[in-house]
Amino acid sequence: MEKVTLKDKTFKKVIPYEAISDAIDKVAAKINKDFKNCSDIPVLLCVLNGSIMFMGELMKRLEFNCQIVSTKLTSYEGTISTGKVRQAMGLTADITGRRVIIVEDIVDSGNTIVALKDILNEKGVAESRICTLLLKPDAYKKDMKIDYVAMEIPNDFIVGFGLDYDELGRNFKDIYVLDK
Ligand code: IMP
Ligand code: MG
Repeated sequence: MEKVTLKDKTFKKVIPYEAISDAIDKVAAKINKDFKNCSDIPVLLCVLNGSIMFMGELMKRLEFNCQIVSTKLTSYEGTISTGKVRQAMGLTADITGRRVIIVEDIVDSGNTIVALKDILNEKGVAESRICTLLLKPDAYKKDMKIDYVAMEIPNDFIVGFGLDYDELGRNFKDIYVLDK
């Protein structure tokens, strides 16, 4: 599909699955290099719901022993960030003392990853790193280091590959941008 309509909005294809897949290959290779021969079992933290598809693609490329823990955070209403991050579901396992790789679909303002880092520090994790499929550099206002970025994109609203517009569009394998 070149164009999709979700509720009142039309979106056009901008990033085909093949390009997403190549970018995930590269970011996974970096993570594999950093965690090669590690003696601990790092936790991949899936930030629901947006990260589901990225997590599936990323984890099958990782070559060290790892485990998955999930949590759910929300901040968007429609195409706008409310600026407030709410933890809609707590962590699904105890991660005290563990090394954690936060797996995010997209870093936009950065509010979500800042809130997540606070939550993880409170839980007493040994270390946390951030891995995101997408980064909007023009929207990112924090100085927190983002360890692994698969792709950088302009500051436009997108859907697909896990990302949604009012919970729709997550199932598309390609990424679509709002057609203005
Ligand atoms: P941040 O807290 O502003 O960095 O936003 C992060 C969260 O907002 C992401 O995990 C997404 O769930 C959502 N989000 C940000 N930008 C987009 C977008 O362009 N499309 C869909 N969801 C987005
Ligand atoms: Mg998200």
